[in-house]
Amino acid sequence: MGSLATPSSDRRATISLFSRLRTAEGQADPFPIYAELRARGEVSPAPWGGLLVSSYATCEQVLRSGTWLEPDTAWRERQGARTRWSAPSSREISRTLPALNPPEHTRVRRSAGTFDRGSIDQIGRRVSHVVDRLLDTLDERLRAGEADFAALVSEELPVATIGDWLGLPSADWPRLRELTHDQVFTQELLPNASQLARSDAAMAELRTYFLGLVRERRKRPGDDPVSQWIRTWDGLEPDQDKADEAVYFLALFVLLAALETTATLLSTMTLLLVEDPDRWSLLAQQPDLVPSFVEESLRYDPPTHVISRVAAQDTILDGTEVGAGEMVHLLVGAAHRDPARFTDPDSFDPHRNPSHLAFSWGIHYCLGAPLARLEAQTLLRRMITRLPRLTLARRPASAPRVAFRRLLNLDVTLA
Ligand code: HEM
Repeated sequence: MGSLATPSSDRRATISLFSRLRTAEGQADPFPIYAELRARGEVSPAPWGGLLVSSYATCEQVLRSGTWLEPDTAWRERQGARTRWSAPSSREISRTLPALNPPEHTRVRRSAGTFDRGSIDQIGRRVSHVVDRLLDTLDERLRAGEADFAALVSEELPVATIGDWLGLPSADWPRLRELTHDQVFTQELLPNASQLARSDAAMAELRTYFLGLVRERRKRPGDDPVSQWIRTWDGLEPDQDKADEAVYFLALFVLLAALETTATLLSTMTLLLVEDPDRWSLLAQQPDLVPSFVEESLRYDPPTHVISRVAAQDTILDGTEVGAGEMVHLLVGAAHRDPARFTDPDSFDPHRNPSHLAFSWGIHYCLGAPLARLEAQTLLRRMITRLPRLTLARRPASAPRVAFRRLLNLDVTLA
């Protein structure tokens, strides 16, 4: 049986793999690095403590099992005042839905409601309308030369969808989007001090914005989700300030969860579509493959490459002892290329229609998955039916992060 102690040569080798992973080149193509990591063991010690998991079966097992918890507020406090976990942005995010454990998680998740068929249909009409508007602008630009698909479409569609659904003024959308890009570092694998400072500043501004929004909506309620959450929380929480705070955390997290992840999916999917002319032709001839193309994009390169959990008690994971409170990093991006799970995992196969972990699994399964799928499928369908074939102008640049993928540009031209 293994344990978390590692020979220093192994430790150095893993550190070097992670240094490569954190560069722009590593992020442009992390998969060969994941393969090297897997060769060192599907469950291996992380140089900074805890474990790294690259096998699909073990990632899924951890996500489904009640033995593994979210690093919640109490866990973060135990890590001490001088760690990243004590940063104000980390403390703030620890009070949002995905950082809660039962029974609090169950209560808050129920209060959030879900995207039922009716609301998805309603949002769907709005999504189709926004997609058409964005593709009109893209088309116009393309006729004059090349265009950045990421800026014109991928970044715009999620903020227009969520902004409209939550009833946020469109003048606020660009600033909110910037803030979501900044806050993400507190959820990154190994943020440095200046990245954490950016997260702290962004989170403080988002707190002021959303608490103001909740108080405003309380004065003028409507049939939007924020007003609905106020009604729900007024029934759960007698103290109005506490009810407002609970609604603030829901609205905040929906915005944080929905923007970057969906924008990354839209860009990755479009990159996969335009970098190979055969894929465009295939989809144009068989539009029924659109949902499967989206699922394969989510497998091939998911927006979130790392999901973390902590052990609720001393346990054994794939033959390795893990102490209570120890963290495991589930390398979902690596697990999606696990040859034990997927045949020919490095090939993109639009017919594969895989199950995957891009939206997590278990009690924290993404609440917004139906909405993300709706946006991606609508965009893909409209692109292949409305536009002439697009082609990639140059390889895009990636943000040098590990857990949260982000294409900084996606320059395309007419083929
Ligand atoms: C492609 C787009 C998206 C991806 C890849 C994604 C991914 C994820 C993942 C991996 C988790 C679970 C994290 C964990 O297990 O610790 C999660 C949770 C969540 N997501 Fe998404 N998400 C996406 C879009 C959205 C959208 C559009 C919304 C809202 C409209 C949303 C709302 C949420 C919420 C509220 C949770 C917390 C669920 C809970 O902890 O119970 N997500 N998402």
